Order: sequence, then structure tokens, then C-alpha cells
Amino acid sequence: MGTATGVVPATTPALGRFVADLEALTLRHPQEHARVFAIADRLQALLAEPDVVPTRLMKPLPDRYRRNLLHRDAQNRFVVMALVWGKGQFTPVHDHGAFSVVGVYRNRLEITNYMRTDDRKREGRATLAATVRNVGRPGSVFHVVPPSEEIHTVGNSYPEAAVSIHVYGREIEWVNVFDLAAGTVRRSDPLAYHNDL
Ligand SMILES: [Fe+2]
Repeated sequence: MGTATGVVPATTPALGRFVADLEALTLRHPQEHARVFAIADRLQALLAEPDVVPTRLMKPLPDRYRRNLLHRDAQNRFVVMALVWGKGQFTPVHDHGAFSVVGVYRNRLEITNYMRTDDRKREGRATLAATVRNVGRPGSVFHVVPPSEEIHTVGNSYPEAAVSIHVYGREIEWVNVFDLAAGTVRRSDPLAYHNDL
């Protein structure tokens, strides 16, 4: 299991071309929403290519969704990850204070967005309402851009393992985790990469 700093990113020719284009469009689009839309278009094209994610990294883990690092920008302007979701594996409801663009590469993935319904004045407390639920299929691309659309959950309730490719606006070392039943929010433990499992 890799720590955030120790993991060696996976590389494939398709990913190399993708990252070069991300670097170019990051410079071309300083405005964040415009950059996210450009990333979404480029990610959609990537999803149609074969051999983007090394096969060994598309093997699900038995007990949690799998987080593989594909690229970390030297200036931390973005990171690219491949996530693998066995049946019943979901993130908690969370936010990460950075944009994310999610493309479905294999099988089906559910993404649900939430909004805060409290006044955000009580530390550690939060109440939420679901706003949108999507089921993505290969080629589907979704995005979240803070602050208006940042709380979400992602996962797979279908038998076939899902694989998704994510571009985040920076390295995600921890997230805010919401407990809907308890009405609470807390910072998560540090997140790990699973490239070497
Ligand atoms: Fe997320």
C-alpha cells in the first residue's frame, strides 16, 4: 500500500498523451470551470481508447474500492487516478474542496450529489439532502466543482467491477466525511493508494 508520497504512478502511452494534453489545457484555461469542461472533453476521448489502465490495476480489492495513482503533476495542479469498484463498494458521502472530473471506463458507476440543508454554523454538524443521482456507463463523464457542487458519493451496486478514471484539482490526501444519519461531518483518515496490491 503506497503512501501519498511514496507511490510510483502507473504509465501507459495513452496516459502519457492524456497528461500532456492536461498540462496544455491547464495553461490555456486559468478559469476553473472552463478548465473542468476542457478536461471533461479530453477525458471522454480517453475513455474510448484501449489499454489506458494497466490490467493489473483493474483487479478489484475484496474489502474496499481500489485507488490507483496514474499521474501526479509536479506543480500539484492536478492528479489522475483510476478507481476500481467491486459490487457494493462505495465512498462515504464526502467532499474534497477541489474539482474532480470522473469518467466511467468499465461497467457501471453510481454518483449521487448532495447539498447542505443546515446553516453551517455548528462545528462538526451537517445535514444534507440528495440532489442528483446518475448511473454512468462507459464513456460517461461527470464533474463536481466547489463550492456549489462538492458533496457526493460514488460506488457500484452492480455485479461487474467498475473502473473509473478521475482528474482532481490537486492531490487528495483526506476528505470531509458526512454521516447522514448522525448529522455529522469529520475529516477522514489519510487516504492510501493501492497500486502495489
Ligand atoms: Fe470525490
